[in-house]
Amino acid sequence: MQIVILNDAAAVAAYGANIFVTQLINKPASVLGLATGSTPVALYQALIAKNKAGDISFSQTTTFNLDEYLGLTGAHPQSYRYFMDQQLFNHVDIDKANTHVPVGDAVNPVTACQAYEDKIAAAGGIDIQLLGIGRNGHIGFNEPSSGLTSRTRVKTLTKATIKDNARFFAEDEYQPHLSITMGIGTILEAKKVVLLATGESKADAVHAMIEGPLMAKCPASALQMHQDAVIVIDQAAASKLD
Ligand code: F6R
Repeated sequence: MQIVILNDAAAVAAYGANIFVTQLINKPASVLGLATGSTPVALYQALIAKNKAGDISFSQTTTFNLDEYLGLTGAHPQSYRYFMDQQLFNHVDIDKANTHVPVGDAVNPVTACQAYEDKIAAAGGIDIQLLGIGRNGHIGFNEPSSGLTSRTRVKTLTKATIKDNARFFAEDEYQPHLSITMGIGTILEAKKVVLLATGESKADAVHAMIEGPLMAKCPASALQMHQDAVIVIDQAAASKLD
């Protein structure tokens, strides 16, 4: 693991964005693994700016998102497909046909999970996977106790994650308790992984990921096994490192 500690969230986003810019310049036909949540938003804004400036192009790029809520269509404002369209895809020169997010309203979610794995393999695997981390150490929606060799599957969300993500849903709005997520084994197969974490609320999870034992209780600790994992964090997220 390479650990990069920077002053603040803006510096983390800029550093992370630079890794993706370099990747796209070196290989415009890259296969990118993408994440949702609050953390990558500033990175996506930086990529949009670089695209508009003509420094990078997504025209040959393929993307695979980590996860999606089970039970939401892509048109639902809380779906991760909708998030990605709003935060990145609608603003860059990517062919939407080359953007993949697990299908939240799949008729058969189990076969949809295998189909997702097959699509990643057919694209040649993921070159670089962007990750955030949950306060409970999850990556994607691989909650604590997830198998370290798990593949894309239906996963129940923990109470902690449902509570953390309730901020995105209106009080009387249906909030899914199930997801489709790439597995930890799927994530570990990406050639490179870049995890961003900012803020004090992530400090315990960051400590467990980097300094704790490798264990299913902290799914992100599986990144200790990856040959090219870059962990980019701000001072607050690094505050509980020894
Ligand atoms: C999102 C995802 C999640 C988030 C994590 C952190 O696609 O896979 O693992 O990365 O929940 O979310 P934020 O960035 O909102 O703190």
